[in-house]
Amino acid sequence: MLASPEAARFVLVTQSHLFKPTYPKSKERLIGPSALFFHQGHYHLRLRKLIQKSLSLHSLRNLVPHIQASAISTIKSWGDDDDGFIINTFKEMKKFSFEVGILKIFGNLEPRLREELKKNYWIVDKGYNSFPTQIPGTQYKKALLARERLGSILKEIINERKKKNLVESERDLLSCLLNWKGEGGEMLCDDEIGDNIIGVLFAAQDTTATVMTWVIKYLHDEPKLLECVKVVLESMRMASVISFPFREAVADVEYKGFLIPKGWKAMPLFRNIHHNPEFFPDPHKFNPSRFEVSPKPNTFMPFGSGVHACPGNELAKLETLIMIHHLVTKFRLEVIGSQCGIQYGPFPLPLNGLPARCWRESTSSIL
Ligand code: HEM
Repeated sequence: MLASPEAARFVLVTQSHLFKPTYPKSKERLIGPSALFFHQGHYHLRLRKLIQKSLSLHSLRNLVPHIQASAISTIKSWGDDDDGFIINTFKEMKKFSFEVGILKIFGNLEPRLREELKKNYWIVDKGYNSFPTQIPGTQYKKALLARERLGSILKEIINERKKKNLVESERDLLSCLLNWKGEGGEMLCDDEIGDNIIGVLFAAQDTTATVMTWVIKYLHDEPKLLECVKVVLESMRMASVISFPFREAVADVEYKGFLIPKGWKAMPLFRNIHHNPEFFPDPHKFNPSRFEVSPKPNTFMPFGSGVHACPGNELAKLETLIMIHHLVTKFRLEVIGSQCGIQYGPFPLPLNGLPARCWRESTSSIL
């Protein structure tokens, strides 16, 4: 376990070729073995470039009105009662981040296919952290079967696109994946495309929904905070949603006189670095103004660092800011029950997903 910025940089950046990402096989099967984040080297690099381009600020610009519409529709679905309505904040944020993921990946998707995708994706999501067994009826087995169905639905979507020759525009990620050509002219097969679509959906959903839930919690606790960007950064530091990434040494590696033997896991501990008083004084205090000056290099890594750093970070910030903007300018929110408990699922989350009563400010309309 590596808890210094230098050691994190050593593993993730300067010597990243000596440390490969590792995930349990049971999880790899549910996402799909060709997904970007299971890989290292040539395949990873070339696929990453494509995904990064599709998630760049330039290509996100066109998405803003659609994300906005999705935020409004999520909020509208909570009800129209003047006395307010009760929501489970995390569940609602999860629905929203899923919709944004679908938008980015497919653009406009036929409602029938969208519903089928959603239904099966939720089953996979539910089984992801369950005990991996093939016994029929268990959550893991149900998730495996749902993953197979997802594969067929994705093939249907891909075939439709190919038939209609809709691959020319590179607006959405699916078009980029379909248009991709390697140096020798080779293209991605349907399974590789499918695994990467599920991979991106998965990487995008719980992470962003958890951060949004924490931002809402901190704004609830300190409603006078106004500088939303700094509130988001400080929420990410405090919550450190990805506490650490998993890596494995591919050879014996020496670091500052210590031997990390081949096959050993190496975990750069983001959470510890984010809570080290040397870099963030009074680290357990929520204080967005600390971001008035930039943190020292390699001390703030909510989106990771190096070759596997998060390509979705701009999209995550964008959708968080849009959702929070609509909530704080038009609604008031009161947390129900415990104000300070935390649960791990495995990301740290306000207890029970932050149930809250929410009501509209009398002077505002949702639109
Ligand atoms: C606040 C929300 C998010 C957080 C905190 C977050 C965090 C991270 C971190 C720490 C990594 C690096 C993992 C490692 O080094 O092993 C990562 C990778 C990744 N993230 Fe995110 N992420 C977020 C949102 C998103 C979104 C919205 C997308 C896509 C739309 C996304 C797509 C990915 C992908 C594809 C990777 C793998 C990159 C690679 O292996 O090259 N993430 N994320």
